Amino acid sequence: MRTPLVAGNWKMNLQYAEAMTLVDAIVDGLPENNGAEIVLAPPTIYLHDVLDRIQRKPGIALSAQDVSAYERGAFTGEVAASMLASVGVEYVIVGHSERREYHHEDHPLLAAKVDRVLEQSLLPIFCCGEKLDDRTAGRHFELIEQQLHESLFHLSPEKVTECVIAYEPVWAIGTGVVATTGQAQEMHRFIRQLLFARYGEPIASEMRILYGGSVNATNASDLFTCPDVDGGLVGGASLKAVDFLSIIAAAGTNR
Ligand code: 13P
Repeated sequence: MRTPLVAGNWKMNLQYAEAMTLVDAIVDGLPENNGAEIVLAPPTIYLHDVLDRIQRKPGIALSAQDVSAYERGAFTGEVAASMLASVGVEYVIVGHSERREYHHEDHPLLAAKVDRVLEQSLLPIFCCGEKLDDRTAGRHFELIEQQLHESLFHLSPEKVTECVIAYEPVWAIGTGVVATTGQAQEMHRFIRQLLFARYGEPIASEMRILYGGSVNATNASDLFTCPDVDGGLVGGASLKAVDFLSIIAAAGTNR
């Protein structure tokens, strides 16, 4: 049985005081035994203070939004996986479409980031997803397969089980156009079949595959009823405590 996971990716939003208010509201509003694992991914500069506040409640983990592909050294502005581990981070988002698009992150770089994360016993949330023109041209399955093969499937079975996969169709991110349950389930099933082909049944059925892209308090419940959708990676709606808490409740209910 896979425990659902709901991760809030705050991206580059919120000033310090707003961020602390949000985390307090989430911690205070979260019922005990909500049935889902919660992950918060604030901007790097807030990681330490968010950790201080989430420790009041079990079941909430901290994630970074990105990591350097290098271990240490002269890489001005970058943050190493070892540094994230040293301040209590547990998860790291790798391969978000915004990093692929605006920072030109390619498959080998993302494979290196996944390796750095795992070397520090952190858990990657590996994002994959197609653009609208890829879907229109019918290339979406092929593209997702390539993203997984090139940046994740080099891992051993022991290592890959540490990962969470997030399917985030680029056309659904921040657009209000959510994938239909049919589209989400179809792609999640495909990803699970790829895991099966590469790693076998136990691993394919154990690994969590999250959906991301315009998840909100209204559509979460339908998405989470899909058998291969194990939770969500939430952007905009994770910035409002009430909405994020409803999404968490929907994940817990559909367990
Ligand atoms: P939205 O929920 O704002 O569409 O963002 C999704 C996302 O990119 C999460 O990583």
